[in-house]
Amino acid sequence: MSLSFPLLLFFSFLLISNPPPSSAQQNNSSSFSSSDSPWTPNQNRTLLSPKSVFAAGFQPQINSSNLYTFQVWYHNISTPLTAVWTANKSPVNSSATLVITSSGELRLSTTPSGNNLWPNKPVGSANSTRLVLRDDGRLVFENWSSFDHPTDTILPNQKILNETTIYSKDGRYSFENCTQLVFGGNDSYWTSAAFQMLDDNGKVTQANGGSFITSDFGATRLRRLTLANDGNLRLFSLDPNSGQWAVVWQATQELCTIHGTCGPNYICLTDNWDNTTCVCPPGFGRISGVKTCERKIPIRNLQNSKFLPLDYVNFSGGSNQTNLNVQNLKACQDSCLSDPNCEGFGFKYDGQGYCVLQLERLLYGYWSPGTEATFFLRVDGSETDKSTFTGMTSLLETTCPVRVSLPLPPKESNTTTRNIVIICTLFAAELLSGVVFIWAFVKKYIKYRDMARTLGLELLPAGGPKRFSYAELKAATGDFSNIIGRGGFGDVYKGELNDHRIVAVKCLKNVTGGDAEFWAEVTIIARMHHLNLVRLWGFCAEKGKRILVYEYVPNGSLDNFLFQSGRVRSTSGEGEDGGDMEFGQKPILDWNIRYRIALGVARAIAYLHEECLEWVLHCDIKPENILIGDDFCPKISDFGLAKLRKKEDMVSMSRVRGTRGYMAPEWVKMDPITPKADVYSFGMVLLEIVSGVRNSEIQGSKMDSEDWYFPRWAFDKVFQEMKVEDMLDPRIKHCYDSRAHFDMVDRMVKTAMWCLQDRPEMRPSMGKVAKMLEGTVEIMEPKKPTIFFLVDE
Ligand SMILES: *[C@@H]1O[C@H](CO)[C@@H](O)[C@H](O)[C@H]1NC(C)=O
Ligand SMILES: *[C@@H]1O[C@H](CO)[C@@H](O)[C@H](O)[C@H]1NC(C)=O
Ligand SMILES: *[C@@H]1O[C@H](CO)[C@@H](O)[C@H](O)[C@H]1NC(C)=O
Ligand SMILES: *[C@@H]1O[C@H](CO)[C@@H](O)[C@H](O)[C@H]1NC(C)=O
Repeated sequence: MSLSFPLLLFFSFLLISNPPPSSAQQNNSSSFSSSDSPWTPNQNRTLLSPKSVFAAGFQPQINSSNLYTFQVWYHNISTPLTAVWTANKSPVNSSATLVITSSGELRLSTTPSGNNLWPNKPVGSANSTRLVLRDDGRLVFENWSSFDHPTDTILPNQKILNETTIYSKDGRYSFENCTQLVFGGNDSYWTSAAFQMLDDNGKVTQANGGSFITSDFGATRLRRLTLANDGNLRLFSLDPNSGQWAVVWQATQELCTIHGTCGPNYICLTDNWDNTTCVCPPGFGRISGVKTCERKIPIRNLQNSKFLPLDYVNFSGGSNQTNLNVQNLKACQDSCLSDPNCEGFGFKYDGQGYCVLQLERLLYGYWSPGTEATFFLRVDGSETDKSTFTGMTSLLETTCPVRVSLPLPPKESNTTTRNIVIICTLFAAELLSGVVFIWAFVKKYIKYRDMARTLGLELLPAGGPKRFSYAELKAATGDFSNIIGRGGFGDVYKGELNDHRIVAVKCLKNVTGGDAEFWAEVTIIARMHHLNLVRLWGFCAEKGKRILVYEYVPNGSLDNFLFQSGRVRSTSGEGEDGGDMEFGQKPILDWNIRYRIALGVARAIAYLHEECLEWVLHCDIKPENILIGDDFCPKISDFGLAKLRKKEDMVSMSRVRGTRGYMAPEWVKMDPITPKADVYSFGMVLLEIVSGVRNSEIQGSKMDSEDWYFPRWAFDKVFQEMKVEDMLDPRIKHCYDSRAHFDMVDRMVKTAMWCLQDRPEMRPSMGKVAKMLEGTVEIMEPKKPTIFFLVDE
């Protein structure tokens, strides 16, 4: 009671000295000086920069409108209001004032005699110094500048001093000395050369003389570098067309590598470009009453503990993470077993001896294919949970054949038999060489890793695709002179990079979305690692150009191997992807290789559907999109590109492309497109692999009817006439030994029949398909595929 009287006096003083009617109209001013009345939060006054780019003043807190902070924001951008600077970290109530005192001090306080909350308590000369706001977003009061006291944002042309640290709004994250991102004050998770300045064009210069540029470099736009509450540092630019902020650079592509995203024991997953989820590992659960994730069965008997493999998982925090450098999994496991504090260990299969024990705590776990490692989680011997993180193990099992060279098809008929004998003897050689498969895998694996290392990472942190300039790609492809394929997504050129890597450069057509969106999608595509997927090495997004840079797969696409009965293929019309412009006559694939191609493709699609968290439909599976590596290892191309387009485009495009034979009924019925659409297309490819003819064509001269439908015909052959031989590729029919091959071919045909079911829910999932081909699940008798016609037009 005794306090309220002076306070009341103070308020009445404010009211008298600040006649409301006139100031309500004159709310915007260009400066604030000692002759102005004290500034209070609910006056709604703003200070404008000369060209009205920025505004400053009190703004209410989002969730409590009685609390205010003094901020600088973009005057023209109100949804959402984007603050770039804040004077007071802790908000003030409506009785606070901003004044320039008689002694010249700029003062923000809740009571006239209270603490000055203005950073550095600047003092000017009482009757002349004004607080002004410049068009670059800087508040200036004599020698004092808000640029010297940044909060969570750095603006263009703001000189970053040596010890400048910015903090996320909630204070959990900081960008220490503008060189490392830190969680909770001492836990660093991202480091770079110190930032010195951001310019208007989108270039950031660094202390080591280096620099990096944004994806929209060159455009004059409003830009800002902000550390958000999620711990990622991002550069935004304002898209003048949409009026929205777009991310044009960011410190880490993988939000899960940011420490503190999830609590102890959790594993962080990115299910979308900007979404993270925290899940408990197998054997762990959320104990009732507690929010944390704890072991369901504590490890009682240390000797009786076992390990659950979590593929692609890494725990990036906790104590003692030193690489023990042991040569095999057993030795690594033993060293973990012998340490009572060991909670598990990380291991790589690349033969380089990566073995890292995780002691005492499981901290900052995350899933990312980029880790190329498996984490073996120690659990009690009685634990029954199975690992839910798989992917690496199936990669290891992918039966890509070791190097075999097949003879070219015979030119004259009398050499045919000889060559077939050669091909058949190769079976045996191949089977023998199967044992060296693991070794071949490891070799390939190391090759990939080295390639990743060769990739310059000057713009993006590890794991991201390289960004090429248009000029670089122009030089690499000899001004786009060597075209090796034409497809619905765009033309493909062969090129050679400066480091002599041969690449396939795909210039995309009709891609929607902005640079940042494209970049985001490309990063997701580049994150997909599978032996049977074509690797994406980089991209270019410049001057409206959208280009993808892939590893070059030397042997062209599967259609060149399957459909070559001596007839002249038209160069226009259907099936141009990968093309055969460069590739000549192909060897005839034997049954083993055909089977392995089928299995490899099935596993890669299963990986896209089920193991990539970024759930990907291919939407255009056909032989043209299955490339054949130099060891006959199939590699799927064009995956992920469907996402760059709208669904309507996809439908019309597929029709135009003439790949209707591969499209599932739901495309035409306009039903929702699910992963089962890919399963259908795969089934069609499977039949073609077995028969060596296009589904739309007629084998021999036997069929010549309008309602001929390949799957139905094949079904009759296999299940009614019991004549599997009739549908085999005539070119290697002689080579078919029913004892050796029946099982394999039978499985391919039966699996195809299941894939080609008219109703999506009748078709198995791609993971099941792979298992059916492997022979690890029993294949029931399928229903006869119903006739399905695509309407022309
Ligand atoms: C702010 O918007 C006004 C009109 O709404 C426009 O005339 C002015 O140029 C804009 N200022 C800036 C800096 O964009
Ligand atoms: C205010 O200005 C007068 C001259 O205009 C000067 O003599 C005086 O010292 C100034 N007061 C302060 C506090 O700077
Ligand atoms: C796991 O994370 C740590 C810390 O970030 C890192 O040093 C290590 O290389 C990562 N391991 C793998 C296999 O990626
Ligand atoms: C970390 O582990 C290694 C191997 O177990 C051991 O040699 C080293 O002393 C440990 N370091 C610390 C700090 O515990």
